[in-house]
Amino acid sequence: MTAINTSDFDFDVIIIGAGASGLYCAFHAAQKGRRVVVLDHANKAGKKILMSGGGRCNFTNYFVEPEHFIGANPHFCKSALGRYPSWEFIARVDAHGIPYHEREHGQLFCDDSAKDIVTMLLNECQNAGAIVQLNTQITQISALNSSQKSETYCQFKLTTQKVNKKNHDQTIAQTYRCKSLVIATGGLSIPTMGATGFGFEAAAQFGHTILPTSAGLVPFTFTDKTGELISSLSGISLPVIASNSKIFFKLPLLFTHRGLSGPAMLQLSNYWHIGETITINLAPEVDVTPRLLAKKAANPKLRLRTVLFEDLGDTKLPKKLILAFQEQFWQDIKDTEIANIKDDRLIQIGALFNAWQLKPSGTEGYRTAEVTRGGVNTDEVSSKTMESRLQPNLYFIGEVLDVTGHLGGYNFQWAWASGFACAQAL
Ligand code: FDA
Repeated sequence: MTAINTSDFDFDVIIIGAGASGLYCAFHAAQKGRRVVVLDHANKAGKKILMSGGGRCNFTNYFVEPEHFIGANPHFCKSALGRYPSWEFIARVDAHGIPYHEREHGQLFCDDSAKDIVTMLLNECQNAGAIVQLNTQITQISALNSSQKSETYCQFKLTTQKVNKKNHDQTIAQTYRCKSLVIATGGLSIPTMGATGFGFEAAAQFGHTILPTSAGLVPFTFTDKTGELISSLSGISLPVIASNSKIFFKLPLLFTHRGLSGPAMLQLSNYWHIGETITINLAPEVDVTPRLLAKKAANPKLRLRTVLFEDLGDTKLPKKLILAFQEQFWQDIKDTEIANIKDDRLIQIGALFNAWQLKPSGTEGYRTAEVTRGGVNTDEVSSKTMESRLQPNLYFIGEVLDVTGHLGGYNFQWAWASGFACAQAL
């Protein structure tokens, strides 16, 4: 690649990342009279917004509490979320005439398309005079006068390359200067959508610690016989309670050919670490063991599968699931009358349905994860302004920080709230 042009630009604020938090911060800062540019290496702004919520963007939630977020410092998110409640964002969506609807648990989705949210953000940027510049690779960041550690004098210089994707030989080198630099580059999930570890590298450059990162809101994978069993049930969805020693979620589970997905599993994945066991109650509304023992006394000639097909009250477990469990867990007694099955064995089988213990081999990873757990250590960032405590005029917003939301619009709410808090300080 050869540089064919060099130019210099001066701004009050440079925001790296034209995603949810970056765009939201940009127009709020520009509305205050700041000269703002948003730089992004992608060819489109807000790519993750566009693919979110199955294309309809679950943009926030009516019920946002700090408990819906995880991070090493659980208090960090409170200030920004408290100062920017979800109804503030909803009011903006209303003002733009974007139709939306509520789904279960207070989740708000666009009626038509996630594109409405991106268009809203870009229109706000344009109206406020914030420039959004795409196809721009940042090659270097340096702090000017950083040795003085003085808020007044610290500025940043960015060297960038404006990449012409159609003609790889033509790259325009540019230099940007700004007083305030905002890192809004998100997490590592879905690299094909432009996710990079750039934000973590930039943070480390200025002395920040990065808490270990891993995929969150992501399906679980399994190997061996468990993997085969789960895969054979691909397509089945049912309401469950998924839990571990830390938390439980009463939500639907989905068997897939790769493992376990669905809201219950995605939520639990935020609280899971490799090597840990998870528990799934496949029949949350019924205590299966007492039913089996009662049936043994009342209808001793029945087969176990018949009892499970027909006698779980309002709970109807899919026949395919019962037959697959029979194949794997009680093949030896599948044609035995229930009267001849020992109580211990019935207790074991009952527990399979009410407390199925599983050890995932892993998750599908960043390829399909909705979020990244971990990130920039929030102990080194102001919870009021999102400014670095180590480098004046450097800010971090959105998912690059060690703040991860539950499924349900919480990650976008964090992007809006942290972007807004930062803009107030710029
Ligand atoms: P975001 O990822 O939005 O933006 C980061 C920007 O930085 C991108 O534009 C990227 O191109 C840019 N960038 C990265 N590296 C760069 C570099 N080196 N140089 C220049 N630019 C760079 N949440 C929710 O609340 N409701 C939902 O419905 C969903 N659904 C959903 C579906 C899927 C498939 C995914 C992957 C994620 C979700 N999420 C979600 C999560 C949500 O998308 C996410 O938490 C926010 O977009 C995070 O906002 P940020 O601004 O931090 O990063």
